[in-house]
Amino acid sequence: MNVLVVGGAGYIGSHMVKMLAARGHAVVTLDNFSTGHRDAVVAGRVVEADLADRAALDALFASGRFDAVMHFASFIQVGESVREPAKYYRNNFANTLNLLDAMVAAGVTRFVFSSSAAVFGEPERVPIDEAHPKRPINPYGRTKLMVEEALADYDAAYGLRSVSLRYFNAAGADPQGAIGERHDPETHLVPLVLQAASGRRPSVAVFGDDYDTPDGTCVRDYIHVVDLCDAHLLALDWMAAHGSSGAFNLGNGQGFSVREVIDTARRVTGRPIAVVASPRREGDPARLVADATLARRELGWNPRFAALDTIVAHAWAWERTHASRGTEG
Ligand code: UFG
Repeated sequence: MNVLVVGGAGYIGSHMVKMLAARGHAVVTLDNFSTGHRDAVVAGRVVEADLADRAALDALFASGRFDAVMHFASFIQVGESVREPAKYYRNNFANTLNLLDAMVAAGVTRFVFSSSAAVFGEPERVPIDEAHPKRPINPYGRTKLMVEEALADYDAAYGLRSVSLRYFNAAGADPQGAIGERHDPETHLVPLVLQAASGRRPSVAVFGDDYDTPDGTCVRDYIHVVDLCDAHLLALDWMAAHGSSGAFNLGNGQGFSVREVIDTARRVTGRPIAVVASPRREGDPARLVADATLARRELGWNPRFAALDTIVAHAWAWERTHASRGTEG
């Protein structure tokens, strides 16, 4: 297949590009490099353009016949989305419509969308299945839900088939060590904990220890980036087989507290990790755990790297190369 990976220079997109190429697919990365890294794209052609630029999108779709588009390009910081909603509605929603419209115009009919657990808002129950009410509590989550809703309408009206994959907490790195997580600024727990282990940071903050959870810290469902990429490939097969659209929650179904993640990292790295008790971060639900039964049943998805130790070990191998290069972020 010929697959366009939008945001292929970012964390999850770059792992997708690598996997697609390894499976023998032709891959083109589209990225504006606002947050992505050129050296993270390890295969295929790279086109630098912004999703706001419809003419550039039309030119790209005219340049080759794509069988499918995978869309990873979005801003992901919840707090920032509250302070700067325009940035999120513009990029994550309006620009995504540009991409969909360009696909419809070019006759490309398969789309995999990086959605988020954030579409559910404060959970009414865990684990969270697809039937759980969708009431996002911040602009970030709203933009993801708005795209999901637009996709249902685009399917009905234009025959654009899509799969929305709602990631819980993506973590880990390429098991071969070629690429990994490199956000700047980094806000995610696993890389921050490992940067404290490698000495790139003095300590890691624990945001709140008075939640209604067993140890008082927030519980999350960490899922390996490669397992997420597997689900994208299966989503392509699923659309081809079913000729319809769907949405699936992706997680391991097991929650780990912030303290458990830090303890796992201490064990895996063999390094001390200093912790600073800090106030709660605004907008953090106490628990987010996926019920991914539907993805397992419908897509045939079976996470290969479900153990938190493995997720942390792969992220640690990446952190060590990265820290030794002395690079930022
Ligand atoms: N945390 C800390 N200290 C830190 C960073 C995080 O204690 O320095 C805690 C958070 O409070 C949270 C947990 O670690 O309880 C995980 O935090 P992350 O920022 O790694 O992940 P989130 O659960 O906040 O975010 C995930 C995705 C986001 C997405 C969000 C939507 O990583 O991209 O879900 O719900 F926007």
